[in-house]
Amino acid sequence: MITVKTVRELRAAVARARSEGKRIGLVPTMGNLHAGHAALVTKAAQRCDFVVASIFVNPLQFGAGEDLDSYPRTLAADQERLLEAGCQLLFAPTVEEMYPDGMAGQTLVSVPGVSAGLCGGSRPGHFDGVATVVTKLFHMVQPDLAIFGEKDFQQLAVIRKLVRDLNLPIQIIGEPTVRAADGLALSSRNGYLNEEQRAIAPQLYQTLSDIAAALRRGESDHAALLDGARARLTAAGFVPDYLEIRNPLTLCPATPADRQLVILAAARLGAPRLIDNLFVDLD
Ligand code: PAJ
Repeated sequence: MITVKTVRELRAAVARARSEGKRIGLVPTMGNLHAGHAALVTKAAQRCDFVVASIFVNPLQFGAGEDLDSYPRTLAADQERLLEAGCQLLFAPTVEEMYPDGMAGQTLVSVPGVSAGLCGGSRPGHFDGVATVVTKLFHMVQPDLAIFGEKDFQQLAVIRKLVRDLNLPIQIIGEPTVRAADGLALSSRNGYLNEEQRAIAPQLYQTLSDIAAALRRGESDHAALLDGARARLTAAGFVPDYLEIRNPLTLCPATPADRQLVILAAARLGAPRLIDNLFVDLD
């Protein structure tokens, strides 16, 4: 695996692979890689001949007062993990390389509809930052396919919509969430949890699982279910940000006619903010 830091080197390495007839896969990340990221790379390696990963802590998607400065940067360990998972090329640019004219004047890609509410509601501008950097990466690499985690369910919906709206010839693949044995979704932000918080954290997924079980039993009063679950999360020590049952395609509030649902949650546990979601098929 080679690591490059400039767009020029990236384009040259990808052009070489493409001239050899290779199918190119892209896995964008912000680093501090765990088994969830590795699963995306493994999937890309199964589907492609040449896997490009990127590590870039994108300032454009962080709000004021968020964890941009403290976001863990662990390049050497990340390189090992990527190599093991089957990555051929790592793109790890600087902020100046990605935004040579600064971020203030940057052209933005904004995806309406699916970006609104949920994480988009609590983190204004976040999905513009994500959509913009992902569009840039797509143009730099021009992959045949790109892989994203279902853990960030709304982000995946935003990316699917931007690819459709901008006619990008890139297949988008969503990978299931990789979890710790106790159910907690793996996340770079789990490292912020202290021991006591880490013990409480799996209750977020347990709560989603309980809601899913109630829905499967035929419970149809979503508001009552969600109120009960919010109270339970609060009692456990979380400060819930949102807890919603939505249509998985539109991310609009679910209606009684919807047979496929997604339960989405974000909650603070001390300073760290955890997100998770669970897909429910009632058919
Ligand atoms: P990051 O949080 O590093 O995540 C990179 C990719 O890994 C995303 O597609 C995310 O959904 C996926 N991922 C994270 N945890 C996962 C888990 N437990 N199981 C499966 N997949 C998981 O998401 C971002 O970076 C950024 O917003 C990015 C898309 C790179 C744009 O800057």
